[in-house]
Amino acid sequence: MSKTTLWTQGRLATMSDEAGPAGDWGWIEDGAMLSQDGRLLWVGARADLPDDLAGTADQVHDMAGAVVTPGLIDCHTHLVYGGQRAHEFELRLKGASYEEIARAGGGIRSSVAATREASEHQLYAQAAHRALALMTEGVTTLEVKSGYGLSQASEAKMLRVARRLAELGLDVRTTYLGAHALPAEFQGRADDYIDAVCQWMPKLKREGLVDAVDAFCEGIGFTSAQTRRVFETARALGLPVKLHAEQLSDQGGTQLACEFGALSCDHLEHLSEAGIAAMKASGTVAVLLPGAYYFLRETKLPPIAALREAGVPMAVSTDHNPGTSPTLSLLLMLNMACTQFRLTPEEALRGVTVNAARALGLRDRGQLRAGQRADFCLWDIDHPNELSYFFGRNPLRLVVRGGVLRA
Ligand code: NIG
Ligand code: FE
Repeated sequence: MSKTTLWTQGRLATMSDEAGPAGDWGWIEDGAMLSQDGRLLWVGARADLPDDLAGTADQVHDMAGAVVTPGLIDCHTHLVYGGQRAHEFELRLKGASYEEIARAGGGIRSSVAATREASEHQLYAQAAHRALALMTEGVTTLEVKSGYGLSQASEAKMLRVARRLAELGLDVRTTYLGAHALPAEFQGRADDYIDAVCQWMPKLKREGLVDAVDAFCEGIGFTSAQTRRVFETARALGLPVKLHAEQLSDQGGTQLACEFGALSCDHLEHLSEAGIAAMKASGTVAVLLPGAYYFLRETKLPPIAALREAGVPMAVSTDHNPGTSPTLSLLLMLNMACTQFRLTPEEALRGVTVNAARALGLRDRGQLRAGQRADFCLWDIDHPNELSYFFGRNPLRLVVRGGVLRA
C-alpha cells in the first residue's frame, strides 16, 4: 500500500480553474495537501483540513514556506534530433532568411540528414541530456514531436527515443509530425509524400508510438489541402490533432485544425480574426512560442490581446528544436512570454501548467486540486510572479512527481 503524505507549510499557486477569479493564481497562503497513490486527495488551507483526514497521513513533509506550483509542462518540443544548426544561425545573422535557408535544402532537411544518420543510442543520449536540462527547471510532463526522420523507420526511431525518455522520471507525450518537411527523395511529389505519411500513421500507432498528430501548414511546409488529408487519417484512427499554424504567413491552417477539434494551434504570429473565432468555437489552445519568435527575430506578434479577449486559453512552450528555438529553459520562456508577448506573469504560469495540460488533452494535471496527479514544484521565491521576473536564474528547490520526491 502506498503511503499517504501530508504536505504542510506551502504557499500554493494552485492555478486551479475551479478556484477564485483569474488574477489570484488560485492562491492559498498557508496551504496543505494530502497525496496518496500518486494523486492529490485534498488541497486547501491548513486550517480547513479535517483532523480525521490529517490523521490518515503516514508521513508529514514540511515545505517550509516554499511557493508551490503544479509541475511544469513543456507542451511543444522537437527534442529528439541529430546534429545542430549553429551555422544557419550565422547565415541568418548575415541576412539570409529562415525560408531561404529551407528552400536551399538547409533547415529542417539538414536536421533530417543528421537524424537519419544517428543511431537510436546516440539520439537517446543527446535527447536525454536535453530532457534533464528541462527537468532541472521543474518540467514533469514533456511533449516530443517526430518530424526529423521523414521515413517510416526514422520516424519510428525518433518516437521510440522520445518514449524512452520517460525512464528519466518524467511523463512523455509523443506527437507524430511526419508532415514537417518534404524529404529530398520526394522532391516535386508532395502529394505522394502525404500519402506515405498517412500510410505510416496506423503502423506507428499500432506500435504505441503516437499520442497525437501534428503538421507544418506553411508556404515552406504543406498546404491546407495536404494537412487536411493528414488530419482525416488521424481522425479515422481516433488520434487528436495539433498544428504548426500561421507561423510565417496566414494559411488559414487554424480554421482547418479547428474543424478537426484540434487540441492546439501553435506559433500563430500571423493568426487572423477568423482563426481566433474558430479557436474560440472549438476550445483549441493557442500555444505561444516566444523562443522561436525571438530567435528568428520576428517582428509580427501573435494577436495576444484578441486571443485574451476571446477567452482562448494560452499555453507557453520552449518549441525546443535545432533550427528556430534551441533553448532548454522553460522558465526563460515565461519571462519572454511577458516581455515580448505581454502576457501577465499569471497568464505565463497558466501557460506552462493548466493550459499546457489542456494543449496535450490531459485533464489530470496542471493544477493543484483534489483528483489531480501529485506533480508539483517547490520554489525558493516569495511570490509566483518571480518565475517570470527572473531570467537566467533557477529558484527550483525540489520536485514531487506522483507524490514522490524526485531525486
Ligand atoms: O516549430 N516551424 C516548423 N518547425 C519548427 C522548426 C523546425 C526546424 O527549423 O528544425 C518550429 O519552429
Ligand atoms: Fe515546433
